Amino acid sequence: MEVDFNSEPFLTDFKQTYAAMHASGCPFAHSTLGDHYAVASHAEIVDMLKRYDLWKSKYGPGLNYQERSGVLVSVDPPEHTFEVKIVASAFSVPYFESLIPEMQAFVDEQIDGFYADGRVDLHQALSIALPLFVIFRMFGIPLRDEAGDKTEFVRQMILGSVGLMLTPSHQVQAELAAGSVDEARMRAVAGTQQMFVDHLADCKRKLENGEYHDDSNIVCRFLTTPGPDGTYLSDAKILGFCGFLLTAGSATTTIMLSNILYRLLTEPEEFAKLKANPDLVPLAIEESLRLDAPVQGLFRTNDEETDLGPLHLERDTKVMLLWAGANLDPAVFDDPLRFSLDRDIARVRRHLAFGYGTHFCRGAALARIEGEIFLRAVLDRLPNLRFDGEVVMEKRMPVLQGIRSLPLAWDVG
Ligand code: HEM
Repeated sequence: MEVDFNSEPFLTDFKQTYAAMHASGCPFAHSTLGDHYAVASHAEIVDMLKRYDLWKSKYGPGLNYQERSGVLVSVDPPEHTFEVKIVASAFSVPYFESLIPEMQAFVDEQIDGFYADGRVDLHQALSIALPLFVIFRMFGIPLRDEAGDKTEFVRQMILGSVGLMLTPSHQVQAELAAGSVDEARMRAVAGTQQMFVDHLADCKRKLENGEYHDDSNIVCRFLTTPGPDGTYLSDAKILGFCGFLLTAGSATTTIMLSNILYRLLTEPEEFAKLKANPDLVPLAIEESLRLDAPVQGLFRTNDEETDLGPLHLERDTKVMLLWAGANLDPAVFDDPLRFSLDRDIARVRRHLAFGYGTHFCRGAALARIEGEIFLRAVLDRLPNLRFDGEVVMEKRMPVLQGIRSLPLAWDVG
């Protein structure tokens, strides 16, 4: 099939595209825009990810061939093994769990702020706010201080960087030359980089004078944790980690949170089951991740000429692994387009929303914790929740699919 992953028809009805790819018996697509391939088969994707010696990350997770050395999703073993050891020291499940009381307090405080109004854009008030609160807390940078609230600024940065991930580089260059790339977004990308440069210098100074310790925040962890060979991350790598984590940790989780609620509100029977049995919360989160995967897909590049299904690919071809498409693969999930809280959670968790293998998402446990806190708070505190106006879909970042505005109302008791 020929698919343009940036086009309006795809963005409006992408699940039908994935369903058609599976139904055709040939779950591969080609995109003329950017001249890349894409694969939706669960089994093919898993096989490719097991062959990380062939399917490389070194050219980056987006469509463009990244020239500078990146971090994590843009490097391969052994460099990746080194980075992962350091991330793992900062990203343990006990550490994520230690943040639960603060996350709960934050969500309660947000709800206290709008509860009496009986209506709010929940996307803005919680889905954007909670993941940003968490990641800034992990960095040790205040999200709000005397200089103001960084939320809008960071959202602009994310639109600026993630928004162009599926745009071919010649088109980005042409848009830059024509001045049609949003300037506010570009300023936000540069400003965020500066924020991290300042923070890194501050952490170094405070570690030196004893004001900060290894575990004061994740940047201190990155500075003080050696890799397997005893050396430390360079400043450039730490700044790369920060930029990547801000986007990977917040934009994706924001989409997941609104997707969960949107799905439940459009499936009243399943929502009723959940209200009657809140033990189904973890399953509701997994089923949402499966059916409405926040990240559509990311790229790998083959290090040598190879065959892929019916395709013969030249070396260095960009191939998009469609996580969202694999999650609708009928060979793995019965009746894949149906949202159901009757499924077996172990089977649902075979979804690829968090990737698979070497680069499996290091923040998956955190995203699940945020999802639980969010959903339980909404169930407990916002009775008779319903739509209250038009839900607007987010189409400014084709690689992420979700909601831009979620106006909801509830009964104020
Ligand atoms: C619902 C929320 C999330 C989704 C859907 C998601 C999705 C993904 C996916 C698909 C990958 C695999 C990339 C690849 O194979 O190329 C990934 C990697 C990663 N994610 Fe997440 N993510 C989420 C939340 C988070 C959070 C909250 C954090 C951290 C605060 C995080 C940190 C990472 C890191 C560090 C990697 C790189 C792993 C590696 O290369 O070894 N993610 N994520």
